[in-house]
Amino acid sequence: MRAPHSPPGEPVVGNAMRFARSPFDVLDTLAASYREGVVHLSGMVGPGIYVVLDPALVQRVLVDDHARYRKPQLRPELVDPLIGEGLLTSEGDLWKRQRTTLQPAFFTSRLRGFGDTIVDFTRATTDGWADGSTVDVHRELGVLTVRIIARLLLGVDLSRADAVDVAEAMEQVGETLALSPGNVVRPPWLQTPPPRTYRQAIRELEDVTARVTAMHEPEGDDVLSLLRRAVDADPDGFPDDELRDQVMTMLLAGHETTALTLTYALFLLSENPDARAELHREVDDVVDGAPTWADLAALDYTERVVHETLRVLPPVWAVFREPLVDARLGEYRIPEGAPMMLPQWALHRSGRHWDAPRTFDPDRWRGTKPAETPAYFPFGAGPRACIGRQLAIVEAKLILATVFAEWDVEVLVDDLPRRAAITMQPTEPVPARVHRR
Ligand code: HEM
Repeated sequence: MRAPHSPPGEPVVGNAMRFARSPFDVLDTLAASYREGVVHLSGMVGPGIYVVLDPALVQRVLVDDHARYRKPQLRPELVDPLIGEGLLTSEGDLWKRQRTTLQPAFFTSRLRGFGDTIVDFTRATTDGWADGSTVDVHRELGVLTVRIIARLLLGVDLSRADAVDVAEAMEQVGETLALSPGNVVRPPWLQTPPPRTYRQAIRELEDVTARVTAMHEPEGDDVLSLLRRAVDADPDGFPDDELRDQVMTMLLAGHETTALTLTYALFLLSENPDARAELHREVDDVVDGAPTWADLAALDYTERVVHETLRVLPPVWAVFREPLVDARLGEYRIPEGAPMMLPQWALHRSGRHWDAPRTFDPDRWRGTKPAETPAYFPFGAGPRACIGRQLAIVEAKLILATVFAEWDVEVLVDDLPRRAAITMQPTEPVPARVHRR
């Protein structure tokens, strides 16, 4: 057993500065040039950070040995006031209780009833587009997915104005949480309080959350109804802020990742006109007017587009863990409590695991099951894998099919500057020209 190597760094701050300035480039270099399964980036957050680059070791941490690791508390001064102990951040018995309580909201039998809702909300969005005009697709899709999540998971119809407030507040949150040289190299004892704009964004999200909770009628199997019943049955089993934390978590985790997937799909389809033409062909063949749940099985190429987008531009670019006690991971020793990064960005794009990794080729998924591809884990893996995985795929397929049945969408930029927050987000609007077909 040995300590992982560090790539050469800069004096004092180690590799931190370079990583904070351009995390995606640093991860590309690590994946390309290191033969090691784990490397150590020095000088960040105390003990530095251990980057796992071997898919077999990622599986060990997330699946086989998951009980030996936990999620680290990265930047608690920012994350706690945002989502507290919601499903994304909770641990131990509380996490188990929450996951079991909320799971029925995501059952296929329940989602099946919402296909038409997804299509109707999408059409309400495209009805606002003028033929030949330019729209910011990231914003449009963000507002759309907020409204869908509010309806499906929280059981309420949010006004467009409320959905815009949520999407805007989330953008502010992303800006504050993003890696930057200032926030990566600052030692824990020098943490400054959250900036005013961040606190303001949280207040806006809390306002919408309060309205959602007040509007909600407890019935059925939406997240809020399930939670209210569980809290009533076992008041000591959940924290006081359970409803608030869980609504904030669903708004954060449930809308932005899907909006990013769709934004990146539109970008990649614009760069690859052949793939866009193939998508149009399939949608024209399968869809009669508007897509339905029954069409999903035949929307094969559409599904491959979604998987390939999640590979090339994964909205969650890395997940993080820390060992509960000193850990042995393959031949490497990782000290107790040291932060570990498991970067989708690096593994999804490494020439060691993929042919022509930078090429957007939906057909590489023909006959290949994503769940059986170890270097591919856009939704994480193991017990803490994404609870919204099936919903996200269904939603992305139905939205793409609804849009492409009536429109052609061409993103007008050939580069998308992105920042690394909890998700990988565009830093600028994403303009696209929309043509009615
Ligand atoms: C394409 C879209 C999505 C992507 C790429 C994605 C990705 C992920 C990933 C990678 C994780 C694991 C994090 C970790 O292990 O540290 C996760 C967890 C989670 N996701 Fe998603 N997600 C997506 C859509 C959704 C949707 C639609 C929801 C709906 C609410 C959702 C809710 C959650 C929640 C609550 C967790 C925490 C689950 C737990 O720890 O038990 N996600 N997601």
